[in-house]
Amino acid sequence: MTRELFSTNEMKLLFEKLASFTVYPENKGVTRLAYTPTDQLAHQYMIETMQKAGFTVRQDAIGNIFCRLPGKNPDLPAVGTGSHLDTVPNGGAYDGTLGVVAGFYALMQFKPQQLSRSLELVIFRAEESSRFGFSCIGSKVLLGKVDREKWALNRDDDGRSFFDVLDSLGYPSHEIEQCELADNHYSGFIEMHIEQGRRLELEGKSVGIVNGIAAPTRFQVQVTGHADHSGATPMYQRHDALVASAAIISDVNRAACRESVWGTVGTIGKLNVYPNSMNVIPGEVNFLVDIRGIEPESIARVATHLKNSIKKSEQDNDVSIQIREISAEAPVKLDNEICQCIEQHCLEQNIGYMTMLSGAGHDSMNLAQKFPTAMIFTPSKNGISHHPDEFTDFDDIIIAANLLKDTLYSLAK
Ligand code: GLV
Ligand code: MN
Ligand code: MN
Repeated sequence: MTRELFSTNEMKLLFEKLASFTVYPENKGVTRLAYTPTDQLAHQYMIETMQKAGFTVRQDAIGNIFCRLPGKNPDLPAVGTGSHLDTVPNGGAYDGTLGVVAGFYALMQFKPQQLSRSLELVIFRAEESSRFGFSCIGSKVLLGKVDREKWALNRDDDGRSFFDVLDSLGYPSHEIEQCELADNHYSGFIEMHIEQGRRLELEGKSVGIVNGIAAPTRFQVQVTGHADHSGATPMYQRHDALVASAAIISDVNRAACRESVWGTVGTIGKLNVYPNSMNVIPGEVNFLVDIRGIEPESIARVATHLKNSIKKSEQDNDVSIQIREISAEAPVKLDNEICQCIEQHCLEQNIGYMTMLSGAGHDSMNLAQKFPTAMIFTPSKNGISHHPDEFTDFDDIIIAANLLKDTLYSLAK
């Protein structure tokens, strides 16, 4: 192994290499949807990089990757770190990838059997909901949260289910229940990630210590009206599915705005209109609603508003509307002791930090249900994320990656 040689500059080169796995290399930003050929290449590249560095690498039935550095007591629960490589369409280079690259950098700073516990870097599959409409699939599977019935209902834009896609890539979808990790697999887990908001930048801090994560509740709404001629059909004879949807969308937005004191947010980011032609009245619309927050009652109020708005819009627009809950996850509190350990390192090294909540979802939400888990955030320039302009200063990345390394050391030594 050439551990000593893996410098922060090499971490930067690895980060840049991973950014080159994108469907549109001529464009700024990264498009690497879960389980697409580009995503497969990026994961394969990481497997080879880990193997070349001498790590033991394992891939489970869903394609999650585990890279292990053995400790003196390999039977003790390991200390884990990791994140994801898949992106949203036209996203940035940092979301997820940074935690993988920093985790690799951190593991490279130690020798086998140097620490008491083993260290393990995980690359979780399909964290983004962009392809299949539900998120953090790899980490859900690791925590035994497989819901075959619900998952089979979700399709990608080509009409393929998650299970079809897995099988076509040689991942045995019938075995994914076997991916569940034992209760004592990790003694602790830390994910490093970009903030994806603007708080650190506004407060002038280099590091966020994340002690809680907002959770998404998501719905699919299907509006069925009647397609008809846009010139020949008078306004009073229409069953316009898009007009009906527009009323609901603006109601959800209003309801979420009313809940903003609780930090709750509501988004309709995906909408399919059929037949989607200028001169045809929209006959059918499907859209996805993403409500998030840390106060379950506040999330529930927005969801109730959505349902009431659907009833009203059905009557007002003479259409029929079906709603289906895709997921409803509970907000998650992260581990106090690991947060304190990170804080201690910040104090010792004079790193400007703040404790904060995460508005975005992360695989750590799932890990936290079984293992003591925390997150380290780095600042996002202008708070921009899920966009090609996503950017974090490399000096901040170095601070956070070394903080990750130091915290892993404290938890594993
Ligand atoms: C993950 O990026 C999310 O949607 O929160
Ligand atoms: Mn993301
Ligand atoms: Mn992410």
